[in-house]
Amino acid sequence: MALLLKTDIERGDAWQRALHAADPDMTVHDWPYDGDPAEIEFALVWGPPRGALRRFADLKAIFSIGAGIDHLASDPELPDGVPVVRMVEPGLTAGMTEFVILGVLTHHRFMLDYAAQQRTRIWREIPQIAAARRRVGIMGLGVLGSEAADKVAALGFAVAGWSRSPKERPGISTFHGEAGLEPFLARSDILVCLLPLTVETEGILNARTFAALPRGAALVSTGRGGHVVEADLLAALDSGQIGGATLDVFREEPLPPESPFWAHPRVILTPHVASMTIPDSAAEAVVANIRRLRAGQPLHHVVDLRRGY
Ligand code: NAP
Ligand code: GLV
Repeated sequence: MALLLKTDIERGDAWQRALHAADPDMTVHDWPYDGDPAEIEFALVWGPPRGALRRFADLKAIFSIGAGIDHLASDPELPDGVPVVRMVEPGLTAGMTEFVILGVLTHHRFMLDYAAQQRTRIWREIPQIAAARRRVGIMGLGVLGSEAADKVAALGFAVAGWSRSPKERPGISTFHGEAGLEPFLARSDILVCLLPLTVETEGILNARTFAALPRGAALVSTGRGGHVVEADLLAALDSGQIGGATLDVFREEPLPPESPFWAHPRVILTPHVASMTIPDSAAEAVVANIRRLRAGQPLHHVVDLRRGY
Protein backbone atom coordinates (compact mmCIF):
# COMPACT_ATOMS: atom_id res chain seq x y z
CA MET A 1 0.00 0.00 0.00
CA ALA A 2 1.33 3.41 -0.95
CA LEU A 3 0.85 7.17 -0.95
CA LEU A 4 0.54 9.03 -4.25
CA LEU A 5 2.24 12.45 -4.23
CA LYS A 6 1.33 15.29 -6.59
CA THR A 7 3.30 18.44 -5.88
CA ASP A 8 5.19 21.00 -7.92
CA ILE A 9 8.38 19.80 -9.55
CA GLU A 10 10.61 22.06 -7.40
CA ARG A 11 9.47 20.57 -4.13
CA GLY A 12 9.08 16.91 -5.19
CA ASP A 13 12.44 15.78 -3.81
CA ALA A 14 11.98 17.66 -0.55
CA TRP A 15 8.60 15.97 -0.06
CA GLN A 16 10.04 12.53 -0.86
CA ARG A 17 12.83 13.03 1.69
CA ALA A 18 10.47 14.40 4.33
CA LEU A 19 7.91 11.62 3.92
CA HIS A 20 10.66 9.00 4.06
CA ALA A 21 12.04 10.56 7.25
CA ALA A 22 8.56 10.62 8.82
CA ASP A 23 7.79 7.02 7.85
CA PRO A 24 10.64 5.00 6.30
CA ASP A 25 8.26 2.08 5.63
CA MET A 26 5.81 4.04 3.51
CA THR A 27 6.04 3.72 -0.28
CA VAL A 28 5.59 7.06 -2.04
CA HIS A 29 4.82 7.23 -5.75
CA ASP A 30 5.16 10.45 -7.71
CA TRP A 31 2.40 11.71 -9.98
CA PRO A 32 1.70 10.62 -12.71
CA TYR A 33 1.40 6.99 -11.62
CA ASP A 34 0.73 4.24 -14.16
CA GLY A 35 1.04 1.27 -11.79
CA ASP A 36 -1.69 -0.76 -10.11
CA PRO A 37 -4.36 1.68 -8.84
CA ALA A 38 -5.22 -0.77 -6.03
CA GLU A 39 -1.81 -0.06 -4.50
CA ILE A 40 -2.70 3.56 -3.73
CA GLU A 41 -4.18 4.03 -0.27
CA PHE A 42 -3.55 7.75 0.26
CA ALA A 43 -3.19 10.76 -2.02
CA LEU A 44 -1.25 13.88 -1.01
CA VAL A 45 -2.02 16.35 -3.74
CA TRP A 46 -2.24 19.90 -5.02
CA GLY A 47 -4.49 20.54 -8.02
CA PRO A 48 -5.12 17.07 -9.41
CA PRO A 49 -6.84 17.12 -12.82
CA ARG A 50 -10.60 16.81 -12.64
CA GLY A 51 -11.71 13.20 -12.08
CA ALA A 52 -8.12 11.90 -11.89
CA LEU A 53 -8.45 10.50 -8.36
CA ARG A 54 -11.48 8.38 -9.26
CA ARG A 55 -9.44 5.50 -10.62
CA PHE A 56 -7.99 4.80 -7.16
CA ALA A 57 -10.85 2.73 -5.79
CA ASP A 58 -9.04 1.83 -2.55
CA LEU A 59 -8.24 5.41 -1.48
CA LYS A 60 -8.72 5.89 2.26
CA ALA A 61 -8.03 9.63 2.41
CA ILE A 62 -7.10 12.58 0.19
CA PHE A 63 -4.69 15.01 1.84
CA SER A 64 -4.52 18.53 0.44
CA ILE A 65 -0.98 19.89 0.25
CA GLY A 66 -2.41 23.31 1.09
CA ALA A 67 -4.73 24.68 3.75
CA GLY A 68 -7.26 25.54 1.06
CA ILE A 69 -9.21 22.67 -0.44
CA ASP A 70 -10.98 24.64 -3.18
CA HIS A 71 -8.73 22.87 -5.72
CA LEU A 72 -10.40 19.61 -4.63
CA ALA A 73 -13.91 20.83 -3.80
CA SER A 74 -14.25 22.24 -7.32
CA ASP A 75 -13.83 18.73 -8.79
CA PRO A 76 -17.34 17.30 -9.32
CA GLU A 77 -15.76 13.89 -9.95
CA LEU A 78 -13.93 13.53 -6.65
CA PRO A 79 -14.23 9.92 -5.39
CA ASP A 80 -17.39 9.53 -3.30
CA GLY A 81 -17.08 8.96 0.41
CA VAL A 82 -13.30 9.46 0.64
CA PRO A 83 -12.42 11.98 3.39
CA VAL A 84 -10.60 15.12 2.26
CA VAL A 85 -8.11 16.45 4.80
CA ARG A 86 -6.84 20.05 4.72
CA MET A 87 -3.26 20.92 5.59
CA VAL A 88 -2.67 22.06 9.13
CA GLU A 89 1.02 22.18 10.01
CA PRO A 90 3.18 24.58 12.01
CA GLY A 91 5.32 25.78 9.08
CA LEU A 92 2.29 26.91 7.06
CA THR A 93 0.79 28.69 10.06
CA ALA A 94 4.04 30.45 10.96
CA GLY A 95 4.55 31.61 7.36
CA MET A 96 1.08 33.12 7.17
CA THR A 97 1.53 34.90 10.49
CA GLU A 98 4.75 36.45 9.16
CA PHE A 99 3.01 37.59 5.99
CA VAL A 100 0.05 39.11 7.83
CA ILE A 101 2.39 41.00 10.16
CA LEU A 102 4.36 42.18 7.12
CA GLY A 103 1.17 43.38 5.41
CA VAL A 104 -0.19 45.10 8.50
CA LEU A 105 3.10 46.87 9.22
CA THR A 106 3.52 47.89 5.57
CA HIS A 107 0.27 49.85 5.68
CA HIS A 108 0.54 50.94 9.31
CA ARG A 109 3.99 52.45 8.66
CA PHE A 110 3.04 54.09 5.32
CA MET A 111 5.59 52.07 3.32
CA LEU A 112 3.71 52.61 0.03
CA ASP A 113 3.97 56.38 0.57
CA TYR A 114 7.63 56.23 1.54
CA ALA A 115 8.44 54.02 -1.50
CA ALA A 116 6.75 56.64 -3.73
CA GLN A 117 8.68 59.42 -2.00
CA GLN A 118 11.93 57.51 -2.47
CA ARG A 119 11.31 57.20 -6.23
CA THR A 120 10.98 61.00 -6.46
CA ARG A 121 13.68 61.83 -3.86
CA ILE A 122 11.26 63.44 -1.44
CA TRP A 123 12.25 63.59 2.25
CA ARG A 124 9.00 64.06 4.17
CA GLU A 125 7.82 62.67 7.49
CA ILE A 126 4.30 61.30 7.80
CA PRO A 127 2.96 61.57 11.39
CA GLN A 128 2.98 58.13 13.00
CA ILE A 129 -0.13 56.57 14.54
CA ALA A 130 0.13 54.40 17.66
CA ALA A 131 -0.57 50.70 16.99
CA ALA A 132 -3.28 50.76 19.66
CA ARG A 133 -5.17 53.30 17.55
CA ARG A 134 -4.90 51.21 14.38
CA ARG A 135 -7.79 48.78 14.06
CA VAL A 136 -6.98 45.53 12.25
CA GLY A 137 -9.82 43.26 11.12
CA ILE A 138 -9.17 39.65 10.20
CA MET A 139 -11.78 37.84 8.10
CA GLY A 140 -11.57 34.17 9.04
CA LEU A 141 -10.66 33.12 12.56
CA GLY A 142 -9.62 29.57 11.74
CA VAL A 143 -6.21 27.97 12.13
CA LEU A 144 -4.40 30.72 10.21
CA GLY A 145 -6.59 33.71 11.08
CA SER A 146 -6.64 33.11 14.82
CA GLU A 147 -2.85 32.70 15.09
CA ALA A 148 -2.30 35.83 12.98
CA ALA A 149 -4.84 37.73 15.11
CA ASP A 150 -3.02 36.81 18.34
CA LYS A 151 0.39 37.81 16.98
CA VAL A 152 -0.85 41.11 15.52
CA ALA A 153 -2.60 41.87 18.83
CA ALA A 154 0.67 41.10 20.65
CA LEU A 155 2.22 43.99 18.67
CA GLY A 156 -0.32 46.30 20.29
CA PHE A 157 -2.88 46.66 17.47
CA ALA A 158 -6.62 46.72 18.17
CA VAL A 159 -7.61 43.43 16.53
CA ALA A 160 -11.01 42.04 15.63
CA GLY A 161 -11.93 38.84 13.83
CA TRP A 162 -14.94 37.79 11.79
CA SER A 163 -16.06 34.19 11.40
CA ARG A 164 -19.12 32.19 10.47
CA SER A 165 -19.84 30.92 13.98
CA PRO A 166 -19.49 32.89 17.25
CA LYS A 167 -16.04 32.80 18.86
CA GLU A 168 -14.41 34.04 22.03
CA ARG A 169 -10.72 34.83 22.00
CA PRO A 170 -8.87 36.74 24.71
CA GLY A 171 -7.64 40.12 23.47
CA ILE A 172 -9.57 39.92 20.18
CA SER A 173 -12.97 41.52 19.49
CA THR A 174 -15.10 38.99 17.68
CA PHE A 175 -17.92 39.34 15.16
CA HIS A 176 -19.72 36.66 13.25
CA GLY A 177 -22.19 35.97 10.50
CA GLU A 178 -23.87 38.32 8.10
CA ALA A 179 -25.13 40.57 10.90
CA GLY A 180 -21.61 40.96 12.28
CA LEU A 181 -19.99 41.89 8.98
CA GLU A 182 -20.86 45.59 8.73
CA PRO A 183 -19.89 46.54 12.30
CA PHE A 184 -16.69 44.54 11.87
CA LEU A 185 -15.83 46.32 8.61
CA ALA A 186 -16.70 49.74 10.04
CA ARG A 187 -13.92 49.37 12.64
CA SER A 188 -11.24 47.86 10.31
CA ASP A 189 -8.52 50.31 9.23
CA ILE A 190 -6.53 47.37 7.89
CA LEU A 191 -8.61 44.46 6.59
CA VAL A 192 -6.96 41.05 6.25
CA CYS A 193 -8.77 38.30 4.35
CA LEU A 194 -7.98 34.77 5.50
CA LEU A 195 -11.23 33.11 4.52
CA PRO A 196 -11.50 29.89 2.55
CA LEU A 197 -13.00 30.20 -0.93
CA THR A 198 -16.54 28.83 -0.79
CA VAL A 199 -19.88 29.52 -2.45
CA GLU A 200 -20.58 31.95 0.42
CA THR A 201 -17.27 33.81 0.32
CA GLU A 202 -16.78 34.10 -3.45
CA GLY A 203 -16.68 37.82 -4.32
CA ILE A 204 -16.96 38.89 -0.68
CA LEU A 205 -14.38 41.67 -1.20
CA ASN A 206 -16.63 43.83 -3.35
CA ALA A 207 -17.79 47.43 -3.67
CA ARG A 208 -20.26 47.08 -0.78
CA THR A 209 -17.59 45.66 1.51
CA PHE A 210 -15.10 48.39 0.59
CA ALA A 211 -17.72 51.10 1.12
CA ALA A 212 -18.34 49.79 4.64
CA LEU A 213 -14.67 50.26 5.62
CA PRO A 214 -13.33 53.55 7.03
CA ARG A 215 -12.18 55.79 4.19
CA GLY A 216 -8.57 55.06 3.20
CA ALA A 217 -8.51 51.59 4.79
CA ALA A 218 -5.91 49.10 3.60
CA LEU A 219 -6.52 45.57 2.35
CA VAL A 220 -4.29 42.53 2.82
CA SER A 221 -5.71 39.80 0.59
CA THR A 222 -4.18 36.41 1.32
CA GLY A 223 -7.11 33.99 1.14
CA ARG A 224 -7.98 33.34 -2.48
CA GLY A 225 -8.25 35.52 -5.58
CA GLY A 226 -11.89 34.53 -5.96
CA HIS A 227 -12.74 36.58 -2.87
CA VAL A 228 -11.95 39.81 -4.70
CA VAL A 229 -14.13 41.52 -7.29
CA GLU A 230 -11.10 42.98 -9.03
CA ALA A 231 -12.93 45.79 -10.88
CA ASP A 232 -14.47 46.92 -7.56
CA LEU A 233 -11.07 46.91 -5.88
CA LEU A 234 -9.51 48.97 -8.66
CA ALA A 235 -12.36 51.48 -8.42
CA ALA A 236 -11.98 51.66 -4.63
CA LEU A 237 -8.20 52.17 -4.96
CA ASP A 238 -8.64 54.83 -7.58
CA SER A 239 -11.24 56.71 -5.54
CA GLY A 240 -9.12 56.53 -2.36
CA GLN A 241 -11.78 54.53 -0.48
CA ILE A 242 -9.08 51.84 -0.25
CA GLY A 243 -5.79 53.57 0.50
CA GLY A 244 -3.50 50.66 -0.35
CA ALA A 245 -3.51 46.93 -0.88
CA THR A 246 -1.21 43.98 -0.38
CA LEU A 247 -2.39 41.32 -2.81
CA ASP A 248 -1.03 37.78 -2.77
CA VAL A 249 -3.83 35.95 -4.57
CA PHE A 250 -5.67 36.65 -7.82
CA ARG A 251 -8.57 35.30 -9.85
CA GLU A 252 -6.15 34.32 -12.60
CA GLU A 253 -2.74 33.01 -11.54
CA PRO A 254 -0.13 33.74 -12.77
CA LEU A 255 -1.45 37.29 -12.91
CA PRO A 256 -1.68 38.21 -16.62
CA PRO A 257 0.86 40.84 -17.76
CA GLU A 258 -1.94 43.22 -18.76
CA SER A 259 -3.46 43.30 -15.24
CA PRO A 260 -3.63 46.89 -13.93
CA PHE A 261 -2.56 45.64 -10.49
CA TRP A 262 1.07 45.16 -11.63
CA ALA A 263 1.72 48.87 -11.97
CA HIS A 264 -0.84 50.31 -9.57
CA PRO A 265 0.96 52.78 -7.28
CA ARG A 266 -1.15 51.78 -4.26
CA VAL A 267 -0.60 48.02 -4.64
CA ILE A 268 2.12 45.67 -3.47
CA LEU A 269 1.73 42.23 -4.96
CA THR A 270 3.30 38.82 -4.46
CA PRO A 271 2.84 35.62 -6.50
CA HIS A 272 0.71 33.52 -4.10
CA VAL A 273 3.52 33.02 -1.62
CA ALA A 274 1.99 34.40 1.59
CA SER A 275 2.68 31.01 3.10
CA MET A 276 3.86 27.65 1.86
CA THR A 277 3.51 24.20 3.30
CA ILE A 278 6.92 23.14 4.62
CA PRO A 279 7.52 19.48 3.63
CA ASP A 280 9.48 18.57 6.80
CA SER A 281 6.83 19.64 9.29
CA ALA A 282 3.92 18.79 6.98
CA ALA A 283 5.10 15.21 6.32
CA GLU A 284 5.11 14.60 10.07
CA ALA A 285 1.54 15.91 10.32
CA VAL A 286 0.35 13.74 7.41
CA VAL A 287 2.06 10.60 8.71
CA ALA A 288 0.68 11.19 12.22
CA ASN A 289 -2.81 11.46 10.73
CA ILE A 290 -2.34 8.24 8.70
CA ARG A 291 -1.25 6.51 11.91
CA ARG A 292 -4.43 7.70 13.60
CA LEU A 293 -6.51 6.17 10.83
CA ARG A 294 -4.61 2.89 11.01
CA ALA A 295 -5.19 2.84 14.78
CA GLY A 296 -8.95 3.19 14.18
CA GLN A 297 -9.08 6.81 15.38
CA PRO A 298 -10.82 9.61 13.47
CA LEU A 299 -8.65 11.66 11.11
CA HIS A 300 -7.88 15.24 12.13
CA HIS A 301 -8.84 18.22 9.90
CA VAL A 302 -11.34 16.48 7.64
CA VAL A 303 -13.26 19.13 5.69
CA ASP A 304 -16.98 19.34 5.09
CA LEU A 305 -17.14 19.36 1.29
CA ARG A 306 -20.74 20.63 1.24
CA ARG A 307 -19.73 23.64 3.39
CA GLY A 308 -16.58 24.07 1.28
CA TYR A 309 -13.97 24.19 4.06
P1 NAP B 1 -9.89 27.31 8.52
O1 NAP B 1 -9.14 26.89 9.73
O2 NAP B 1 -10.84 26.35 7.90
O3 NAP B 1 -10.65 28.66 8.91
C1 NAP B 1 -11.57 29.27 8.09
C2 NAP B 1 -12.20 30.44 8.81
O4 NAP B 1 -13.06 31.13 7.91
C3 NAP B 1 -13.08 30.00 10.00
O5 NAP B 1 -12.93 30.88 11.08
C4 NAP B 1 -14.49 30.09 9.42
O6 NAP B 1 -15.50 30.35 10.37
C5 NAP B 1 -14.34 31.28 8.51
N1 NAP B 1 -15.38 31.28 7.48
C6 NAP B 1 -15.63 30.37 6.52
N2 NAP B 1 -16.70 30.71 5.79
C7 NAP B 1 -17.17 31.87 6.31
C8 NAP B 1 -18.26 32.70 6.03
N3 NAP B 1 -19.12 32.43 5.05
N4 NAP B 1 -18.43 33.81 6.79
C9 NAP B 1 -17.59 34.10 7.80
N5 NAP B 1 -16.53 33.33 8.14
C10 NAP B 1 -16.31 32.24 7.40
O7 NAP B 1 -8.90 27.74 7.36
P2 NAP B 1 -7.36 28.18 7.50
O8 NAP B 1 -6.51 26.98 7.67
O9 NAP B 1 -7.27 29.26 8.50
O10 NAP B 1 -7.08 28.75 6.02
C11 NAP B 1 -7.85 29.82 5.49
C12 NAP B 1 -7.57 30.01 4.00
O11 NAP B 1 -6.30 30.66 3.82
C13 NAP B 1 -7.44 28.76 3.16
O12 NAP B 1 -8.70 28.20 2.86
C14 NAP B 1 -6.70 29.26 1.93
O13 NAP B 1 -7.65 29.69 0.96
C15 NAP B 1 -5.93 30.48 2.45
N6 NAP B 1 -4.47 30.27 2.39
C16 NAP B 1 -3.74 31.07 1.56
C17 NAP B 1 -2.36 30.91 1.49
C18 NAP B 1 -1.52 31.81 0.63
O14 NAP B 1 -0.33 31.55 0.47
N7 NAP B 1 -2.05 32.86 0.09
C19 NAP B 1 -1.72 29.93 2.28
C20 NAP B 1 -2.51 29.14 3.09
C21 NAP B 1 -3.88 29.32 3.15
P3 NAP B 1 -15.85 29.28 11.54
O15 NAP B 1 -14.65 29.35 12.47
O16 NAP B 1 -17.06 29.82 12.15
O17 NAP B 1 -16.00 27.95 10.88
C1 GLV C 1 -2.10 27.89 -0.19
O1 GLV C 1 -2.62 28.68 -0.88
C2 GLV C 1 -2.77 27.00 0.71
O2 GLV C 1 -4.01 26.87 0.61
O3 GLV C 1 -2.11 26.39 1.56
